[in-house]
Amino acid sequence: MFFLIILASISTVSRTALAASIPPSFLLSSNNSTDITLSQLDAIIDGTSCPLEGSQFLDECRTAAQALPFVNKGFADYNITTLGEKAALLSLMSFESGGFQFNINHSPGNPGQGTRNLMEFPSHNKTASYISLSSLPSKLSNKTKNAIRAVVLGDGLSFGSAMWFYTQRCLQMPGMVEGLQAQTETGWENYITKCVGTTVTDERKQSWLRAVKILNGNA
Ligand SMILES: *[C@@H]1O[C@H](CO)[C@@H](O)[C@H](O)[C@H]1NC(C)=O
Ligand SMILES: *[C@@H]1O[C@H](CO)[C@@H](O)[C@H](O)[C@H]1NC(C)=O
Ligand SMILES: *[C@@H]1O[C@H](CO)[C@@H](O)[C@H](O)[C@H]1NC(C)=O
Ligand SMILES: *[C@@H]1O[C@H](CO)[C@@H](O)[C@H](O)[C@H]1NC(C)=O
Ligand SMILES: *[C@@H]1O[C@H](CO)[C@@H](O)[C@H](O)[C@H]1NC(C)=O
Repeated sequence: MFFLIILASISTVSRTALAASIPPSFLLSSNNSTDITLSQLDAIIDGTSCPLEGSQFLDECRTAAQALPFVNKGFADYNITTLGEKAALLSLMSFESGGFQFNINHSPGNPGQGTRNLMEFPSHNKTASYISLSSLPSKLSNKTKNAIRAVVLGDGLSFGSAMWFYTQRCLQMPGMVEGLQAQTETGWENYITKCVGTTVTDERKQSWLRAVKILNGNA
């Protein structure tokens, strides 16, 4: 039995209040000039509608309207206010989750990998992980990894994990904040390779360029 603690920095998120169904009034109450709008988010995820015809993973799918309050809360909780940083993080989330269709890794099905930016299961020695684990044995079964992952799959945590990751792991990296805020391709490449730890592909780049255009009101 493992003892799971959600980090204090996200303790303000009321997990029970963030369950699956969101009353429409909550969606309309978002009126902050710095907030992402519904039409912007919808464009970024390319108008994903749930249920998606033929999808096997309908329970994981979220529309822009469902995701919007959690996305804006994630940015607010982690004090991410600039358009350039939001564009990079949202394009990552949309890219990794197939426009919010997926909440866990299905292909190839890596145990423990999930949330909207498809974070990998925390390696044992990483001190800052979205889930703090004590008494972590050196080997965990796939089933246990998936059970641990399940703790962070609710919308309130899943839509905030990209913001958490960025602030915990990447803010101090040279040129990171400045590059994203300046919305330069070099800045974004630095984010993808150094912060996210993956490779630049044309698909990822197009997704980022689109998000930048949308948030700048040019799409
Ligand atoms: C949002 O705020 C603006 C400016 O204060 C106001 O004009 C607008 O009616 C508000 N919208 C909603 C939906 O409350
Ligand atoms: C608007 O959003 C910013 C940044 O997310 C936050 O600091 C501020 O408190 C919000 N204002 C209101 C009125 O919600
Ligand atoms: C939030 O970000 C702003 C702008 O980057 C910074 O001035 C401020 O100190 C930050 N606040 C917190 C609580 O981190
Ligand atoms: C656990 O997951 C890994 C990686 O997906 C896989 O190679 C392995 O066969 C799985 N183990 C079991 C017991 O299913
Ligand atoms: C974890 O970190 C400690 C201290 O840095 C080190 O001694 C240990 O070998 C590391 N374990 C693994 C599995 O990397």
